[in-house]
Amino acid sequence: MTLAGKSVVITGAATGIGRGIAESVLKAGADVTVVGRREEPLRELADLYGPSVAVVAEDVSAPGAAERIVAAATGRFGRLDAVVNNAGLARFGPIEESGPELFDAMFAVNVRAPAELIRCALPQLRAHGGSVVNISSVGAVLSMPGRAFYGATKAAVNSLTRSLARELAPDVRVNAVLPGPVDTPMWNETGLDAADTGKLRAGLLSSTPMGRFGEAGEIGRWVCLLLDTELSGWVTGALVPVDGGRTA
Ligand SMILES: NC(=O)c1ccc[n+]([C@@H]2O[C@H](COP(=O)([O-])OP(=O)(O)OC[C@H]3O[C@@H](n4cnc5c(N)ncnc54)[C@H](OP(=O)(O)O)[C@@H]3O)[C@@H](O)[C@H]2O)c1
Repeated sequence: MTLAGKSVVITGAATGIGRGIAESVLKAGADVTVVGRREEPLRELADLYGPSVAVVAEDVSAPGAAERIVAAATGRFGRLDAVVNNAGLARFGPIEESGPELFDAMFAVNVRAPAELIRCALPQLRAHGGSVVNISSVGAVLSMPGRAFYGATKAAVNSLTRSLARELAPDVRVNAVLPGPVDTPMWNETGLDAADTGKLRAGLLSSTPMGRFGEAGEIGRWVCLLLDTELSGWVTGALVPVDGGRTA
């Protein structure tokens, strides 16, 4: 696998799955523009990988963020070949406790921001035969009691992926990876208390045939595969479960 000479934007790259994707893409030889709200953890990647990393501290859901991210990537590396929409917001709870503010916040980060980043990156992506990988979730295709809004955002990401794959072909490929449970900081920020988080994690583990949580690098390597035109040049509109068999 090689992504040498490519310039890739990765959102939510400081921690968890995004960090795994960033490291895999950097190891494959690409230049990477890493995006997140906090600058400091993103700087760690720049310290480790040097001038191949450009750091952009942005909330992806903020007005004008997508234009600024694209401008930063093209300003630094002269081109933009690929976008990985990974930044996500996961807040869980029963419908009675999930008001419209939560609904809007999750859709803004998980659906509107990826759509806007794709839109703003499109002239560059078209110019370079580029590609998009959206990080969805197995929650897009499973029923998600207690996590309905989150599942709905990821179902929307799947729909966006499939429609844009047809709309933008043959110039730009659009695919999605659907991770199963991966041990990341997300699990401490869902709004559930420790007991409910423990129950949820135990349930996820017992319903994952491979018997363990995934690792961020296991998602990252599949993202690289989908970005690599030599290997995946005929793959678009694919929703790829990387989930330890959870949706099998
Ligand atoms: N972990 C799992 O089991 C799992 C399973 C399926 C799918 N996913 C998906 O995988 C993606 C990554 O999740 P994760 O588990 O790796 O969570 P994570 O460790 O919490 O990472 C999320 C990253 O996104 C950044 N971020 C969050 N909101 C942002 C915003 N508004 N603007 C810019 N950056 C933002 C965070 O950095 P800052 O706080 O500095 O902004 C953080 O680095 C998400 O889309 C999630 O839905 C996760």
